[in-house]
Amino acid sequence: MARRILAAGNWKMNKTPSETTALINEMKPVVASDDVDVLLCVPAIDIPAAVEAAKGSNIQIGAENLYYEEKGAYTGEIAPDMLVDAGVTHVIIGHSERRGYFGETDEQVNKKIKKALEHGLVPVMCCGESLEQREQGVTMDWIRMQVKIGFQDLTADEAKKVIVAYEPIWAIGTGKTATSDQAEEVCKGIRDLLRELYGDDVAETTRVLYGGSVNPGNAAELFAKPDIDGGLVGGASLKTSFGEIVHYNK
Ligand code: PGA
Repeated sequence: MARRILAAGNWKMNKTPSETTALINEMKPVVASDDVDVLLCVPAIDIPAAVEAAKGSNIQIGAENLYYEEKGAYTGEIAPDMLVDAGVTHVIIGHSERRGYFGETDEQVNKKIKKALEHGLVPVMCCGESLEQREQGVTMDWIRMQVKIGFQDLTADEAKKVIVAYEPIWAIGTGKTATSDQAEEVCKGIRDLLRELYGDDVAETTRVLYGGSVNPGNAAELFAKPDIDGGLVGGASLKTSFGEIVHYNK
């Protein structure tokens, strides 16, 4: 079965709840699609507004983070049950901004992935190298380590449910996109690693996205690559022109 393309937005720390309602109402008609899956990952406080506004549309709502404990004395954190109860289906885990600014480690990413899966949430696990690492020629070593630790102890059935997003740090929010060949090379490398770890079925089923300055002008070329199954889109998911990314092949 062919993997479906996923256009996933990452709103980061943008939009208030009332702005969320307004933007999703504007987005609904322009992102309607039978062929492409559409996901918007929004700040935790915007989730109820987003879920309500997206009702009856093809937009799924995701979170940008979760904590790996069930409940308790973890001031400021969000438990998986809270996300599920609020109508969330997906959760971004290990975004480079969380790793960089908030010190998230590969081990925490692994715990969060397991916890998300336990609760039926689809983890969107991010990985990606810095410019320095790319220049040092260690990109694939780094990515393999991030994915290997992120997937530690997952069964094949669990691994298939995870979505991996390859996001080179130097391409995030910089307007500097990886070329489609650079992006394909790493996304293929991730698929090859999944094949090594789990075999063909997982490698062919698991979706691997590219992220980093995806926009309406470059989405078609990126998504046409055999190992790129869509995009994780930051800045360009905050505008209704996100619809042009969803309809990249039109
Ligand atoms: P960008 O962000 O599209 O604004 O580069 C992508 C991301 O960080 O997920």
